[in-house]
Amino acid sequence: MPGITAPKKKTVRATTPSRPTSASRKPAPGSRTSQSSSGSRTGQSSSGSRTGQPSRTRQSLSSSRASESSKLEELFIDELKDIYWAEKQLVKTLPRLKKAATSDELRQAFDNHTTETQGHVQRLEQAFEMLGKKAQAKKCDAMQGITEEGQEVIEDTDKGTSTRDVGLIMAGQKAEHYEIATYGSLIQIAKTLGHNNVARLLQQTLEEEKKADQLLTQIAESTSNRQAAGEKEEE
Ligand SMILES: [Fe+2]
Ligand SMILES: [Fe+2]
Repeated sequence: MPGITAPKKKTVRATTPSRPTSASRKPAPGSRTSQSSSGSRTGQSSSGSRTGQPSRTRQSLSSSRASESSKLEELFIDELKDIYWAEKQLVKTLPRLKKAATSDELRQAFDNHTTETQGHVQRLEQAFEMLGKKAQAKKCDAMQGITEEGQEVIEDTDKGTSTRDVGLIMAGQKAEHYEIATYGSLIQIAKTLGHNNVARLLQQTLEEEKKADQLLTQIAESTSNRQAAGEKEEE
C-alpha cells in the first residue's frame, strides 16, 4: 500500500470501533476477530495523531485508511451473505428438530425460534437494502456442518427419549453460539463503518439468539439432562 513506508517509531493506540466517522475508522485489516481492537498490528494502522508525527504521515495514513475501510466493507457484506445463508438454512432445519424432539417444552422452543429465525432472515434483507446491496446468500460451511450434526443426533438416538432431546439441545445451542459470535462481530464492524442503523437491526437479532440459547440451557438443566440420565442403553 503506497504512502505507508515512512518508518514508524511507535505503534500506538487502541482503536475505537464504535466511532462512526471516517476519520476515526480504524479497522484491523486482515483480521476477522479483532473487534476488541486491542491495538494496531501493522504499520498501516498506526497513527501520528497522538504522537505528534508530521502531517505528511497523517495524510498518507488517511488515504490508506479509506481503502482499508472499503476492504472492511467488502468483508462485512461477505459475512452478511454468510449469515443470511445460515439463517435460511435454520428456517428449514429448526422444524426438523422440533419434529424430532420429545418434550413439549423443547418442541415449543424450536417452534418459537423458527418464527424468530424467519424474522432474522427478513432483518438481514432489510440490512442489505439499507446498504444498497442485493440480498444474497453465500454458503456457510459452518452452519451446514452444524445442521448435519443435528441430523446425526436424530439418526443416532431413539425417538421419544430425553437423550434425543439432550442431543437436539446441543445441536441447537451450537447453532445459536455460531449466530451469537457472528452477530456480535457484525454489529461491531457495522458501528466501525458508520452503519449504525444496520447495527441496531442486528442487535435485535442478537438479543433473540441469546434468549434462545438461554432457554435451551434452561430446558436442559431443568428436565432433559436429568431424565436422560435415567435412560438405559438398549442392547
Ligand atoms: Fe437467527
Ligand atoms: Fe438462532
